[in-house]
Amino acid sequence: MGEFRTVAKVGSIPAGQGATFVVDDRLVAVFYVDGAYHAIDDLCPHMGASLGAGQVYEGAVVCPWHGWRFRVTDGTWCDNPRIKIAAFEVRVEGDEIQVRVNPPAAAT
Ligand code: FES
Repeated sequence: MGEFRTVAKVGSIPAGQGATFVVDDRLVAVFYVDGAYHAIDDLCPHMGASLGAGQVYEGAVVCPWHGWRFRVTDGTWCDNPRIKIAAFEVRVEGDEIQVRVNPPAAAT
């Protein structure tokens, strides 16, 4: 199981925006939306743009290259909800935003 890694200080990601961090060799986009932090895969599955640089509207990040939209809460592609990109656990410990990229083992 992966460990939570500190990516930034609370307050360093403006409301309604995102930023990209390297977590355990993966690029992760972390967003601060409606008072909560969310983390999804940074790479757009279309042609690889950085989603952390995208604008967020109504809970979805808009890819800066061609406009594909992904829900920041769980990585769902808004135009085809059967397809998702990875989403990761986020927590706040003190004044640190922490992300864990490896999901815990599925419950049996
Ligand atoms: S690279 Fe993201 S929509 Fe094209």
